[in-house]
Amino acid sequence: MNDTRASISARVSRVTTRTIQEMKDSGETIACLTAYDFLFARLLDEAGVDIILVGDSLSNVFQGNSTTLPVTLDEMIYHTKIVSNIVRHAMVITDLPFMSYQVTVEEAFRNAGRVMKETNALGVKIEGGERVAKVVEKISGEGIPIIGHIGLMPQSILKYGGYRPRGTSEEEAQALIRDALILEEAGAFAIVLEKIPASLGRTITEKLRIPTIGIGAGPYCSGQILVTPDMLGLFEDFRPRFVRRYANLAEDISRAVRQYVADVKTGAFPTQAESY
Ligand code: KIV
Repeated sequence: MNDTRASISARVSRVTTRTIQEMKDSGETIACLTAYDFLFARLLDEAGVDIILVGDSLSNVFQGNSTTLPVTLDEMIYHTKIVSNIVRHAMVITDLPFMSYQVTVEEAFRNAGRVMKETNALGVKIEGGERVAKVVEKISGEGIPIIGHIGLMPQSILKYGGYRPRGTSEEEAQALIRDALILEEAGAFAIVLEKIPASLGRTITEKLRIPTIGIGAGPYCSGQILVTPDMLGLFEDFRPRFVRRYANLAEDISRAVRQYVADVKTGAFPTQAESY
């Protein structure tokens, strides 16, 4: 990253939709991660993450469910409040969970509004292309920043029957390009592209004015996002190749806890110095 690139996010006290667009326009890559609690949200914010997503991956990595479908709007609101309360710099975005925006446009808007009123989040994210265009138009039209999410959409995983990459055929690729353009037109301020070929990530990024945020979508997107417990090696149940491991926290924690248990059992903890 050169000096000009480093400056945009660093020079604002709070990252907003405008900062995100300026980053795309100037070629500064947007760094995004997920958080669900106070401790991680603070660490991520202090480390310079631009967007902190309270993802519905909460369902997998926090609640232990096998899909994102079970997490509720109330649970998303609970975690988002905790994250928003501690984050000072990053833009906090919340996923609208499954069944909170699919029934009617009005219900989607009411739920997005509830998230904004109750959590101090700075925007919401929903999955889908053309089929959610009216929802995006309403939510954005009423002044709520909204991010789209296309490609692999975890809320539809049961329909697709697996986590294979999307957009690998010409027909699917064209449909995704069309979806991205429709979401931009509807008022999305960014679009997450999940698990699609790098070349398609590049094509979509070049066709859009707004930024793309890739997860398994190659190096040409305007930003990148990973699920934090995946990249820290804390959640080991699932390891797609797009996850780069920056730490092995599960191993570190397990080693530390085993040592603690052994020390307690042998009397090595606490010592006199650790006592009053
Ligand atoms: O829920 C989530 O964490 C997400 C990211 C994978 C983009 O949607």
